[in-house]
Amino acid sequence: MGTRASVREATAARPEAGGAMAGQELSRSEVCGMLREELSQDGAFLQGQPHVFIILGASGDLARKKIYPTVWWLFRDGLLPDDTRVVGFARSPLTVELIRQQTLPYLKTCPEDSSRLGAFFSRQSFVRGQYGERDAFARLDAHLRGLPGGARAHRLFYLALPPSVYVPVTRHIRQACMGEGWNRVIVEKPFGRDLASSDALSLHLGGLFREDQIYRIDHYLGKEMVQNLMVLRFGNRIFGPIWNRDNVACVVLTFKEPFGTEGRGGYFDDFGIIRDVMQNHLLQMLCLVAMEKPASTDPDDVRDEKVKVLKCIGPVELDDVVLGQYVGNPDGPPEAQKGYLDDPTVPPGSTTATFAAAILRVANERWDGVPFVLRCGKALNERKAEVRLQFREVPGDIFGRQCKRNELVVRVQPDEAVYTKMMTKKPGMFFNPEESELDLTYGNRYKDVKLPDAYERLILDVFCGNQMHFVRSDELREAWRIFTPLLHTIEERGEKPIPYLYGSRGPAEADELLKRAGFLYEGTYRWVNPHKL
Ligand code: NDP
Ligand code: BG6
Repeated sequence: MGTRASVREATAARPEAGGAMAGQELSRSEVCGMLREELSQDGAFLQGQPHVFIILGASGDLARKKIYPTVWWLFRDGLLPDDTRVVGFARSPLTVELIRQQTLPYLKTCPEDSSRLGAFFSRQSFVRGQYGERDAFARLDAHLRGLPGGARAHRLFYLALPPSVYVPVTRHIRQACMGEGWNRVIVEKPFGRDLASSDALSLHLGGLFREDQIYRIDHYLGKEMVQNLMVLRFGNRIFGPIWNRDNVACVVLTFKEPFGTEGRGGYFDDFGIIRDVMQNHLLQMLCLVAMEKPASTDPDDVRDEKVKVLKCIGPVELDDVVLGQYVGNPDGPPEAQKGYLDDPTVPPGSTTATFAAAILRVANERWDGVPFVLRCGKALNERKAEVRLQFREVPGDIFGRQCKRNELVVRVQPDEAVYTKMMTKKPGMFFNPEESELDLTYGNRYKDVKLPDAYERLILDVFCGNQMHFVRSDELREAWRIFTPLLHTIEERGEKPIPYLYGSRGPAEADELLKRAGFLYEGTYRWVNPHKL
């Protein structure tokens, strides 16, 4: 098996100490050792080759809460190349000790980690500098050259920065900080605000780096169940023949969060839920559901198929969209009593949508006529991300219309699961059909398996040079082509979102949209968790 594929497989099934993987007892260190061996055999990490992970924006929220912890977890598990250094860069006057203090609450350490933690911080350093000053980057480069391995170390630059400084920072990296090993740049969304600004950014980055040096992160592509979509679809005979317009009535992709913007309104208000979640996370999931089977699992074969399917989707029409904005619920808990406009970081009277539902149509031979409904929102009734395929009715009913439509649900989070809602004979002295399910709940089937965080997988992929789970520039362009006219229309018309209560399922109009898309909600299905019986 291709080593990276098996590394991914083992990473995905990495147990906590003493956990079980596919019936075998393996400790965490054994699993990580196995992964490491594979990485080395694969040549992904050349032994003796030094690496430097440079975090630009080391003082920020993302760096503190996500990037430093992720690098630590990989280091702790021995998954980074032996000689990896971590260098922070920021305007603030930080020191390694300050970085340690700021990141420690997010590292999830246990007492046994203390010597490893010491080793982790002993490999760290910090350079202070302004993002717009080339001299600062020349100093950073001098610092990198002074580390063991010097200029020949492979360099990973993580832009944990606001997009406003992407342009000068990447220019300075190119002009002042390129090492003699490979150089890779990891960019966080937002990749622009619309097609024109995204194109401008792509043009800028494309002028500085080759596409194989640019890693655009959409962290949903690092999630267990999102990665599972390809295996479920293309590794099973049973799904292939029904995965089409003849059998599927509609597809619903959902993202729900039970909290509002709470202090993050400043960033959010400028983007809104369509740019924040729908145009990237949900659209990426749609691609993996709708694309054709790639020629291989080579990253470009996969991304070619994603681009092809995006090309079959026309711009979203405003008539196919419902926008919402949450308002406080006077009967809810204290945090729910405040609406979006009560967030002090949100401009008064903002019409930014915190909820959106939209119908997309994929005009190709497989999907013509099958609506894809994308729904996402903040301050809703639950946390949930899922892919749901609702199938057509069985033709030639013999059960007096007692059968309900089948659904296949891939539950991304929380509580990862794949389940099929299906009809079965009511057990006992009956012969009538009853709704039930085939249920693969990860928590039950893969007890004690710790699923890695999306960022862990993705950062390891950057070390390995695997771009399969990163967004290519043509993919990004298509994504913006689909949403830009809608976003401009909403802004030009000052389209007002429909108010919905904090903690609700969103505006009732979104259910009307679902109905219009042909989604049938019966409200009769009841799930009984077998492990709570
Ligand atoms: P349901 O039939 O309850 O819901 C199906 C879909 O209908 C959901 O997408 C839901 O979306 C939507 N819906 C709910 N209310 C309405 C409404 N009034 N009008 C229109 N659409 C509506 O089935 P589920 O698959 O959601 O299963 C029920 C519960 O059982 C879930 O909590 C599920 O996680 C759980 N379950 C868990 C399993 C597991 O963990 N292995 C296996 C099977 C079920 P919306 O998100 O808007 O509410
Ligand atoms: C980010 C969005 O990309 O994804 C946030 O900017 C959102 O608004 C987050 O909260 C959700 O990520 P996750 O992994 O918690 O589902």
